[in-house]
Amino acid sequence: MALYQATTSAPVNIAVIKYWGKRDTKLILPTNSSLSVTLDQDDLKATTTSQTDPSFSKDRLWLNGVEEEIKPGSRLATCFEEMRRLRRKVEQSQGEPAISQWFIHVASFNNFPTAAGLASSAAGFAALVSSIAALYKLPNSPSELSLIARQGSGSACRSLFGGFVAWQAGTATDGLDSYAVEVAPREHWPEISAVICVVSDHKKGTSSTAGMQRTVETSTLLQHRIKEVVPQRMTNITKAIKDRDFDTFARITMADSNSFHAVALDTEPPIFYMNDVSRAIVNLIVEYNRASTAAGGPLKAAYTYDAGPNAVIYALKEHIPEIVNLVSHYFPQAESARSPLGAEPLPAGFNANII
Ligand code: ADP
Ligand code: DP6
Ligand code: CO
Repeated sequence: MALYQATTSAPVNIAVIKYWGKRDTKLILPTNSSLSVTLDQDDLKATTTSQTDPSFSKDRLWLNGVEEEIKPGSRLATCFEEMRRLRRKVEQSQGEPAISQWFIHVASFNNFPTAAGLASSAAGFAALVSSIAALYKLPNSPSELSLIARQGSGSACRSLFGGFVAWQAGTATDGLDSYAVEVAPREHWPEISAVICVVSDHKKGTSSTAGMQRTVETSTLLQHRIKEVVPQRMTNITKAIKDRDFDTFARITMADSNSFHAVALDTEPPIFYMNDVSRAIVNLIVEYNRASTAAGGPLKAAYTYDAGPNAVIYALKEHIPEIVNLVSHYFPQAESARSPLGAEPLPAGFNANII
């Protein structure tokens, strides 16, 4: 019997309304809806190959060349099980070969730092699910597959779509209404672009999973964020995206990054994901915007930080060269800065290590 194999890749997505908190840790159901922009396919991405063959004796996964244990009941084990369940449906209804009974081997590579707050778990689990979907030739929609990617890592459900994507928190206890939907395709707003400043590529001290759980258990500010702050922002930023209103998009993006890092700080013991360089980049963007608004212009850039010190700066393409120059001028030691979502060449002499 021939070996079956498929390779796919999935880019990272960087949230502008942050997911932080679970109401169900096993099913990975969030305490609030979130919204992100998926980077373009050729930028920061995970590339995953999966194989299945009757000779395999167990499911195995290698991440960046190192084997990871697949523990029973783990998120990885759940994703494998759920994908097999979808394949069995196709086998039963369409008489496809019963390959779901064989074990699967998976090899995945990230072309950017893993577990450093650049959404590797998002690209990783989205690539895992889409590669097994290709291996199994599944007919399911991205939203249906996002229900499974969500159970690998919450943020992964949004990387099944390109462009502007919302993860609807849902209310059902079985999680069937907690999936990703497209808000607008990438082509709707091609002018928007992102610069990623890798302040540190080290593994973060507190994983997203552990950090958000501690926030749910100890932060009173989180309740305010979930109930009063995020619902309104979801509505407003969705409209800003539909209207291509960068000023509002930028204002909400920065406010929500600040709010997320405030609830991290309101956690016991407090979590500090941003460092001095991250904060200095915030000040730089604030000053850059102030110079524009003082002259009667709009906001020109929006910073956002995930669970790590690395900055993502969203801006319209026309301002990207200026922003890259600015960052490289003030932070010549920055390990890398690049502009996915339509990369601009970096200026000569920029001390960057392009990832
Ligand atoms: P990040 O900020 O990079 O998303 P997380 O703490 O959320 O960091 O998740 C990191 C974990 O995600 C890794 O330790 C690994 O278990 C998983 N992961 C990362 N990349 C992949 C991948 N390509 N395939 C499968 N799992 C991955
Ligand atoms: C700050 O999706 O990595 O990046 O669901 O536990 O795997 P798990 O967490 P993860 O958390 C991402 C948190 C964030 C915000 C976001 O991407 O929305
Ligand atoms: Co993650």
